[in-house]
Amino acid sequence: MNRKRIVSGIRPTGSVHLGNYLGAIRSAVALQEEHQGFFFIADLHAITDSQDPRALAEHTLTTAALYLACGIDPQRASLFVQSHVAAHSQLARLLGSVTPVGLLKRMIQFKEKAVKQGQEASLGLLDYPVLMASDILLYDADLVPVGEDQKQHLELTRDIAARFNRIYGSAGKEVFHTPEPLLMPEGARVMSLTDGSKKMSKSDLADSSRINLLDSPDVIRAKVKRAKTDSISGLEFDNPQRPEAHNLLSIYQLVSGKTREAVAEECKEMGFGQFKALLAEAIVVHLAPIQERYRQIVEDKTYLLSVLRQGRLEAEAVADATLCRAKESMGFSPVL
Ligand code: TRP
Repeated sequence: MNRKRIVSGIRPTGSVHLGNYLGAIRSAVALQEEHQGFFFIADLHAITDSQDPRALAEHTLTTAALYLACGIDPQRASLFVQSHVAAHSQLARLLGSVTPVGLLKRMIQFKEKAVKQGQEASLGLLDYPVLMASDILLYDADLVPVGEDQKQHLELTRDIAARFNRIYGSAGKEVFHTPEPLLMPEGARVMSLTDGSKKMSKSDLADSSRINLLDSPDVIRAKVKRAKTDSISGLEFDNPQRPEAHNLLSIYQLVSGKTREAVAEECKEMGFGQFKALLAEAIVVHLAPIQERYRQIVEDKTYLLSVLRQGRLEAEAVADATLCRAKESMGFSPVL
């Protein structure tokens, strides 16, 4: 039986926070059991933001190691570096020819970043969703796990696939398979520790706003202790006036593995002080085995590189075939 294919990329920012983990990475790990996963470190996407060439390669490897430490199993899924599979860039070039600039300019992420950069906003930033469409369409993905912020990009991917199929497909023969979004459960949305109405994010200047997967137990305790609270007594989910209480309870629920009902019951009469101690320990305990595995993996570079090489070969086999199909449908002369 053919397993359904899922594709997911993560940018090599050098550190992964609890929001990335409880959202994207954990769902990728859960999905690899029943699906065929193509997971990659999106280094070609990382260069659209200002980046440090001395750190890119290192961050690529540490992010890959973190993925593995979180439970990506190279026996079940393919883990690779995006730039190692040349077809990603090549297909993006082809897809660009059917993508209207008007659509790209309407992407929320582009608009947000371009506002700050004005005329300096790069072509790479505008083109980002086309590369993302290439990442997905190369593997004939059935499902793409996405958070709210990437939903629009996935819709564009579907649109690009449809346009390409319309122009270059023939009756009953699509060039690209159209992927479906797999929306992440609402509970997996982790908010900032310093503002319960904002997403936990790498781009927040304050490191105290997030828990990084590699933060030491003491740092975790200190960050939780300083997390924003309110002055209402008792703790509850879902009170719009209390986004911080909701967020901290949700994190506790996710890392403890308890049900929401159990957590609501356990914490309903607690003050923030007592609850924060409980929460900090639950996070520390949850992250300990991940941190331990991470240390083992980064120390065994031979292992890490062999996983990425194997993943690259598996990815290439699929991606090259799709690229070939796309080029053929466009009428390119075969490679001699
Ligand atoms: N754009 C995604 C992000 O910023 C990362 C990404 C790149 C991705 N290519 C992808 C995610 C393909 C899913 C599928 O988070």
